[in-house]
Amino acid sequence: MKPNIQPTAHELIMRDDDIIVTKTDSKGRITYCNRTFIEFSGYTENELLGRQHNIVRHPDMPRAVFKLLWDTIQTGEEFNGYVKNLHKDGGFYWVFANITPSQDASGQLLGFYSVRRKPRPAALEIIIPLYQEMLAVEKQAGTRQGVEAASDILQARIEQQHTDYGRFIFSI
Ligand SMILES: Cc1cc2nc3c(=O)[nH]c(=O)nc-3n(C[C@H](O)[C@H](O)[C@H](O)COP(=O)(O)O)c2cc1C
Repeated sequence: MKPNIQPTAHELIMRDDDIIVTKTDSKGRITYCNRTFIEFSGYTENELLGRQHNIVRHPDMPRAVFKLLWDTIQTGEEFNGYVKNLHKDGGFYWVFANITPSQDASGQLLGFYSVRRKPRPAALEIIIPLYQEMLAVEKQAGTRQGVEAASDILQARIEQQHTDYGRFIFSI
């Protein structure tokens, strides 16, 4: 069960040299985390291992972003994106995340690996209002239609720049 945490306005900011690392099994359960993840999440290693990664999910994150994340990594591709995460005490921290699938020599999926760095402030100026717009349509419509409508908003923004998601996310 995901703990019921009341989000606050307290922001934790990643340091320039910080790298937050986690690994999960193929179902998204945490199998490894580094000290920096322990620090930013606010949990102990014991509380984190074996838990679903949504333990740090922030309610300000649009579902459509996680759909894109999972659609991408489940087809064997790497995902890059901005994520707002929840600290155990209700605070939040932004990351720029890279998530990759891990496979054995025969191509069998072993799990996923995620490395995160401090996001560029200029990129967050674009991402924050974009996610707010996406979240608003998700809240307005039912879950399924909301995710589609939010995905359309993201897609429209990418098409405005005549590019694709992968290039867009590195261009901001
Ligand atoms: C390796 C890996 C790392 C992830 N990292 C995060 C993360 O930092 N924050 C987050 O909210 N979700 C992360 N996710 C996605 C979660 O598994 C989950 O899809 C997301 O939190 C949405 O939760 P929900 O489906 O319960 O709404 C990660 C998934 C994987 C496979």
